[in-house]
Amino acid sequence: MSRLEFSGKLARDAGRLAHTAFGQSATSMKGRHDVLTAMDGEVERFIRKAITASYPDDAIIGEEEGGRGADRVWLIDPIDGTANYARGIPHYCVSIGYLEHGVPTVAAVHDPSHDWLYSAARGEGAWRDGQRLSVSPCDDLGAATVECGWSTRRSTADYLALLTRVMNAGCAIRRVGSGALGLVDVAAGRSEAYCELHINAWDCAAGILLVREAGGYTNDFFAGKGLTEGNPVIGTNRALCAKLADLIGIPIEN
Ligand code: IPD
Ligand code: CA
Ligand code: CA
Repeated sequence: MSRLEFSGKLARDAGRLAHTAFGQSATSMKGRHDVLTAMDGEVERFIRKAITASYPDDAIIGEEEGGRGADRVWLIDPIDGTANYARGIPHYCVSIGYLEHGVPTVAAVHDPSHDWLYSAARGEGAWRDGQRLSVSPCDDLGAATVECGWSTRRSTADYLALLTRVMNAGCAIRRVGSGALGLVDVAAGRSEAYCELHINAWDCAAGILLVREAGGYTNDFFAGKGLTEGNPVIGTNRALCAKLADLIGIPIEN
């Protein structure tokens, strides 16, 4: 089984496990607006066990248990959109990314609420359950939707300034609480861009590859300390990438 097939099956199994406690898992707070459910840990342990059994020499970095980088490293977000998941809002996912020598190579994102599996392999394409994904052809900022991710890791003033720039340019904005699914929406042509002033590698490793393989553009997220400390992220369609990167203020690389 290839890493692509392996990660797709694993993400779907993990997503189905997460969904057994959708809206019902015991919660605690890691910080302000940073929810943790019992299922976050359970799903991460499930994914780690499977990767370790099949690829014992690969490194793993997961949101809940951490880890260190290596030439072959898996990035796991067991539940992305935990605040939605905990409240019973059906917009969350399991995100599994795989990097070789710092380059996103395989991606699997499972959306349990729809039982949709998104996957991508570097140079091969991006799919939802076997159907090819491609970014939106929209070339008009006045018709574009931009999702602006939010967390307490950046100031309110910086977030409001971002919203103001995007709205003043005529775009519609949204913020629905899963960075991984926000990037998937760009890959699937449902929005023109996802951006966030700071995001962690486990949130976006899979989504970045999905956007690129669907014909879109992203920044060089893994530059500098992106893998261990996070970075800003942007993923856009092709037609608006230069205008959106300029507007949002995060340079596009691919
Ligand atoms: C968060 C979500 C959110 C994004 C944050 C992430 P979590 O992850 O992806 O949409 O804006 O940056 O931390 O806590 O739901 O796994
Ligand atoms: Ca996350
Ligand atoms: Ca998470």
